[in-house]
Amino acid sequence: MSFTVAIDGPAAAGKGTISRAVAAEFGFAHLDTGLLYRAVGAKGGDPVQAALTLTPQDLARDDLRSMAAGQAASRVAVIPEVRAALTAFQRRFAAQEPGAVLDGRDIGTVICPGAEVKLYVTASAEVRAHRRWLELGGDAARVLAEVRERDDRDMNRAEAPLRPAEDAVVIDTSELDIDQAVALAFEVIRQRLSN
Ligand code: DC
Repeated sequence: MSFTVAIDGPAAAGKGTISRAVAAEFGFAHLDTGLLYRAVGAKGGDPVQAALTLTPQDLARDDLRSMAAGQAASRVAVIPEVRAALTAFQRRFAAQEPGAVLDGRDIGTVICPGAEVKLYVTASAEVRAHRRWLELGGDAARVLAEVRERDDRDMNRAEAPLRPAEDAVVIDTSELDIDQAVALAFEVIRQRLSN
């Protein structure tokens, strides 16, 4: 039996931090699915072809964390054929023993609708932009504008838009520190593991 934890939410809400903590605590594998879309965007050329031929080297590029790579990822992520090309890999990853945590935008809604635990991690755009700015620097107003632009594109696309699954537990990290947010996630997972 495998146990899947789906963690969705907008950029810089804390999904990555929570996912890594969950993976370490419960001994689960972790897949940052945003990295797949970032690698497709960074590869250039035809995005569908890029998605179909993605290699481990593409995922290891060290320029994938930038704001520009995030924007490029969000743009290729609206293409249904790109999403379809990445689905089987994500589902295989989710099925591994003893469990897996996947974070992204559509894990609880599209990739793993049967996930044992679904979390929707969010925070105000201002708080998220501030965190991104602390991490990457640059012009603060521009970082906020980019966060809003990406939210808008990710939430309003036709295919697999970002939204909480009906059965997701929402964790708003606007006024939580990392330890508090992680503790909440652990609590939800422990409860589900024990029944
Ligand atoms: O989580 P991230 O910021 O690395 O994601 C980058 C972009 O990739 C995000 O703006 C939208 C897209 N994405 C997606 O459409 N579906 C996912 N499961 C993960 C990311």
